[in-house]
Amino acid sequence: MDAGAANIAVTVDRGGLDMMQIRDDGSGIRREDLPILCERFTTSKLREFSDLESIATYGFRGEALASISHVARSLQVVTKTAEDPCGHRCEYRDGRPLSAAAPSAANRGTQITVEELFHSAPARMRAMRNSAADEFHRVADVVAKYAIHNAGMESPNFTFIPFFKNLVSRRCVQPEEVGRPLS
Ligand SMILES: Nc1ncnc2c1ncn2[C@@H]1O[C@H](COP(=O)(O)OP(=O)(O)O)[C@@H](O)[C@H]1O
Ligand SMILES: [Mg+2]
Repeated sequence: MDAGAANIAVTVDRGGLDMMQIRDDGSGIRREDLPILCERFTTSKLREFSDLESIATYGFRGEALASISHVARSLQVVTKTAEDPCGHRCEYRDGRPLSAAAPSAANRGTQITVEELFHSAPARMRAMRNSAADEFHRVADVVAKYAIHNAGMESPNFTFIPFFKNLVSRRCVQPEEVGRPLS
């Protein structure tokens, strides 16, 4: 949402513990920013100390991607800006890219895929072994609240339908299926 996306799709497997993927059609990330993307405190949203007083974005500390890259087995980013002729793909671990960003097919925007979120935190992983269903509901709750809060506010084209559609696809009837006769 901070990247000005109009569509955001969230997909989770086992409540996000095995896999979560967030796809947006926002600004994308510039190729030259990819090497430092997952370093701690790397953010594009603060330039000066005084920005702290007027910050209106959701994230601003450069903490999320860095933390995830330190615990997850894999964090992959595929991104394309409007100016880029093609997208780029980069995989991260412990705050660093595993190799240089590789050109790849992409739509404008960013797709972030996290596999095995607590891979490097075995105690946490064991503790959450049986909580996939709870985690699923937590994710659905957070996504629904952001979607409702932002529906139609910033931009008339703001649509969160793919959000819900993807998120609930493993558990619920798809919206277009609702009302279809069963026989
Ligand atoms: N989906 C995205 N689209 C565009 N830029 C992104 C996206 N996700 C992350 N970034 C860039 O990476 C930086 C670090 O992201 P993050 O760890 O979530 O920290 P924060 O959002 O607090 O700045 C962001 O400041 C932003 O510049
Ligand atoms: Mg963020």
